[in-house]
Amino acid sequence: MSEQLYDFGMVGLGVMGRNFLLNVADNGYSIIGLDTDKGRAAAIEAEAEGKPAKGTTDMKTFVAALKTPRKIMLLVPAGKIVDAVINSLLEFVEPGDLIIDGGNSFFVDTDRRLAHLKDKKIDFLGVGVSGGAKGARFGPSIMPGGTKRAYNKVRKILEAVSAKVGGEPCVAYMGKGSAGNYVKMVHNGIEYAMMQLLAESYDILKHIGRLSNAELHAAFAKYNRGRLRSFLVEITAAIFQQEDELGKGMLIDKILDKAKQKGTGKWTSQNAMDFGIPVPTIDAAVTMRGISALKSEREAAAEVLKVRTSKAKVDKNQLVKTVGDALYFAFITAYAQGLALLADASREKKYGLDMEAIARIWRGGCIIRAALLEDIRQAYSAQPELPNLMVDPAFAKKLRSTQAATRGMIKQAIDAGIPTLAFSTSLAYFDAYRDGRLPLNLVQAQRDHFGSHTYERTDREGIFHTEWK
Ligand code: 6PG
Repeated sequence: MSEQLYDFGMVGLGVMGRNFLLNVADNGYSIIGLDTDKGRAAAIEAEAEGKPAKGTTDMKTFVAALKTPRKIMLLVPAGKIVDAVINSLLEFVEPGDLIIDGGNSFFVDTDRRLAHLKDKKIDFLGVGVSGGAKGARFGPSIMPGGTKRAYNKVRKILEAVSAKVGGEPCVAYMGKGSAGNYVKMVHNGIEYAMMQLLAESYDILKHIGRLSNAELHAAFAKYNRGRLRSFLVEITAAIFQQEDELGKGMLIDKILDKAKQKGTGKWTSQNAMDFGIPVPTIDAAVTMRGISALKSEREAAAEVLKVRTSKAKVDKNQLVKTVGDALYFAFITAYAQGLALLADASREKKYGLDMEAIARIWRGGCIIRAALLEDIRQAYSAQPELPNLMVDPAFAKKLRSTQAATRGMIKQAIDAGIPTLAFSTSLAYFDAYRDGRLPLNLVQAQRDHFGSHTYERTDREGIFHTEWK
């Protein structure tokens, strides 16, 4: 009798890899996992609960046990490990096989790997997977990039394992080359922005509104029942209910105010700068993680830079409503920035991104899933070349109706000395984008004054230089 051959292989049986692989098994495919850790490799068979599954620590056995053309996914830490695994696999795989990188790889690395593997006639997909451990297990949002031919080899499996919204799978072919990793990177940039906006809301509600953790829970739970409904608002509400297992009180009050980062938010900002596309709310979120890391400096500065601030007495219910409006306003600007960057990257890198499809597959499974994404999908369906989400008529209306509350909330925060870098930049982005006459004529004048860099005029064509007095 011949040995059983498996439909799908996974390299890396950490939380994400194991969960994704079990999800594949749940959908009727036979699976095999490879990990250097014996325990993890052995565990996968039991975890598959009777479904055809195997675990191994030996790469040769792993590759030989897969049906051809092989479908091998990697869920290992981004960076050098991905290259090391690919190079080891190259010893055993054959032309026509497919390698899928499911980690948060830097898109430049993906382009390099694609070129390298193309030479060897191995198909390669750079795939963004979002939704954390639970998403991987029960339905993530999946953003595949590479050749269409490679995608078609796994399309059915990815559609089966992905999250579903109204019966539609949260996966779609994103585009050529590193399109999948680029879309995932920007997803994470938006994720950073939304998380920072939620943190600033918390600060305002806690320190201006003096809301208790129970009241904070109620406020965010209420937001989540309305137009702000989203995964991040939902988990924020839940966080305020979590008791500390190691002591008295609530866990949130014991967590150090230093946020770490693996780099995808920073890459989004860096790349947006390279393309000249403004993403100020994402930049603000990355900056705030940086400031948060300066814990001891901040503590010392708290004494040196003590200033008098005023906290006006506020009506809690009114404040909760105002903050909810401001969050809605700022979430829209964050999505607008990320999507504008994607549209530009698509042109620059010839990805051929379909903005409606991106909004569609972000509606479920991923970290930034939100009720708003269906509205965003509709906006791009009506106008695929929309220059900016903010000028879609429905979104313009949403922004116009919440901008006054946003201004009011930021003023209160300024008076109270509460930093609102993300909210303030969201509002400034909106105000700058809708300003047909920015003061940057002065910047041009200065450039020409000190560097003869020339300028253009409003009243006639051409390039001008002045000998400034
Ligand atoms: C997701 C997340 C995930 C990311 C974490 C941590 O979509 O499931 O974006 O991919 O790794 O959010 O990111 P940071 O460590 O940079 O905060």
